[in-house]
Amino acid sequence: MRHFLLIALVLLCAAAYLWSQALPSGDAAKGSKKYDQYEKPTVCKSCHLDIYQQWTQAMMSQAYTHHWDEIEYFDLAEAHAEKVPAIRGVIDGCNGCHAPLAFLAGDVPPPRPDKNSRANESVSCEVCHSIKGYAGDPPNDYNYISAPGRTKYGAKPGLKSPHHDTEYLNLFTQTELCGTCHNEKNPFGIWVKSTQMEWKEGPYAKEGVPCMQCHMPKALGKNATMAKEEMVAQHLFHGAHDAGKLASAVELRMHPEEREVKLGETVIIKVQLFSAKPGHKFPTGSVEDRIVWLHVTATDAAGKEYHLPVDKKGFAGEEYTVASDALAYQDMGIPKGIPNFAGVQRDGVPIGDRIFRMPYFDPDGNMTMMQWNTKSLGVDYRLAPRETKIESYTWQLPDEVPAGKVTFKAQLNYQRLVKPVADFLGVPADESEIVPVNLATTWIEVYE
Ligand code: HEC
Ligand code: HEC
Ligand code: HEC
Ligand code: HEC
Ligand code: HEC
Repeated sequence: MRHFLLIALVLLCAAAYLWSQALPSGDAAKGSKKYDQYEKPTVCKSCHLDIYQQWTQAMMSQAYTHHWDEIEYFDLAEAHAEKVPAIRGVIDGCNGCHAPLAFLAGDVPPPRPDKNSRANESVSCEVCHSIKGYAGDPPNDYNYISAPGRTKYGAKPGLKSPHHDTEYLNLFTQTELCGTCHNEKNPFGIWVKSTQMEWKEGPYAKEGVPCMQCHMPKALGKNATMAKEEMVAQHLFHGAHDAGKLASAVELRMHPEEREVKLGETVIIKVQLFSAKPGHKFPTGSVEDRIVWLHVTATDAAGKEYHLPVDKKGFAGEEYTVASDALAYQDMGIPKGIPNFAGVQRDGVPIGDRIFRMPYFDPDGNMTMMQWNTKSLGVDYRLAPRETKIESYTWQLPDEVPAGKVTFKAQLNYQRLVKPVADFLGVPADESEIVPVNLATTWIEVYE
């Protein structure tokens, strides 16, 4: 009898294993489903009103329709695949994360956003709440296993709904769920997105603080109109498109080495940057697009302003972390059909400012923002979670600086998309607006 039970158990496990294997993930899932298998977010809205409204303001509800996504997908990625058919599969893969329903339904490339197809649902309720698991380690490149149907998976056991069944899955409390789309390896084998892996290496993984604690904070409320009041995961997902999330992400302090300086002497200013808020590197995610830079100025007693360039540290690849008027992004010429394209300005921020970034390089060694065309990565000069970096500014007081107080200002700025690229591609201005992260000031007294 015991043996029989044991054999039955083994067979059951084997069957469960085979069944989970039968559900495709990643590229194999393309075209494996039908749109009709997934319900629309407006259906969920009838009971999950608050969560629905929160989600409509999060970027994941616009992952396919957002203007910059449409421009990069159609004007660069699709246009590139038309010229280089070998990358077709990779470009279809954009939809595995940005328009998962279209990808799963095999509707790729999907109709443009203005056609109002179901691709527009982007990363919808059903996309996440149908995820049953993921295949492979680490989670990356849409290797989630989508199992649409009556059962909605979640993080609370034993919930009853008149519309659907619910099932608790540990995955909904874990960062791996997010990692299936927030880690990405491109066809050259380069990690072009690694937010979940950065988290895993950092202090928050050790302390058991998953993505959800910072991006889906819990508050007292109702998760459905007919549910009782309790702590509910708010579907806020604010990130780089939210000025408040960026504000004070990094804390700044600055001081001079000497408070009193003689006319014409040299002053050294130190700035400490402490990455206090992010659970991953800063910037993270679309690192090829993002730019974070520190702008330092001095104002003398006569009110004249001077711009201070950062002191070089001398590490390999540092030239990419100090703003210059170099040209880059030449590979945009391929999809744009511009032979021998000279490129556009690499940085578009004041020359000499420190940039916290990791450059992406195309096969020719030029900096690129086409992540699928990235063959190597440069120096990683971003801020790791809870890391503190120090920048110094050595400044010989110019002759015209009179005796009196000189005040210094350090301003840390963020831009979602490098401005010269945004201007070249006609991306609406909000994507390249300058978002202040933090500010510090200090002073010296200049005497005769
Ligand atoms: C007719 C009302 C209704 C509709 C429509 C509805 N739900 Fe629910 N849902 C509920 C109720 C009630 C609960 C349980 C709430 C509780 O007791 O906390 C629930 C719970 C859930 C949970 C939590 C599961 C868990 O175990 O943590 C998820 C996820 C969920 N619903 C997703 C969806 C999605 C996705 C849709 C749209 C496809 C949807 N629901 C449509 C009423 C509804
Ligand atoms: C990016 C993935 C993702 C999307 C998109 C998403 N959810 Fe969730 N949802 C989660 C996760 C993860 C949890 C559990 C979070 C936790 O408990 O920390 C959750 C929790 C829930 C819960 C239970 C909340 C609670 O704490 O009682 C409901 C209900 C729910 N989601 C419904 C929806 C609906 C409706 C939509 C669309 C309007 C939606 N979700 C979109 C990932 C997602
Ligand atoms: C099915 C793929 C998918 C899954 C799963 C997923 N995301 Fe996303 N997420 C995306 C895409 C695509 C975007 C980019 C939206 C856009 O185009 O701007 C995004 C954007 C975001 C943003 C906003 C970034 C910004 O620029 O403002 C946050 C925050 C975020 N996701 C957090 C999460 C968290 C936390 C989880 C896990 C609970 C998760 N995501 C799971 C695909 C996914
Ligand atoms: C300790 C809090 C914390 C944790 C944990 C955390 N984040 Fe964040 N996240 C932030 C803050 C603060 C920002 C805004 C600053 C920035 O862009 O890094 C942010 C930004 C983001 C962005 C936008 C980046 C961009 O450039 O558009 C994404 C996407 C994101 N987080 C995803 C995740 C994912 C996925 C996880 C889990 C693997 C996670 N976060 C864990 C605090 C956190
Ligand atoms: C593995 C999942 C995944 C794949 C594949 C993927 N993306 Fe993304 N994409 C994301 C996530 C997640 C973000 C958000 C990261 C962040 O906030 O920094 C994002 C951000 C973006 C952004 C910036 C959005 C913004 O508003 O700032 C653009 C544009 C974009 N992706 C286009 C593409 C294109 C084009 C492709 C195909 C060549 C592609 N993506 C492939 C997951 C993916």
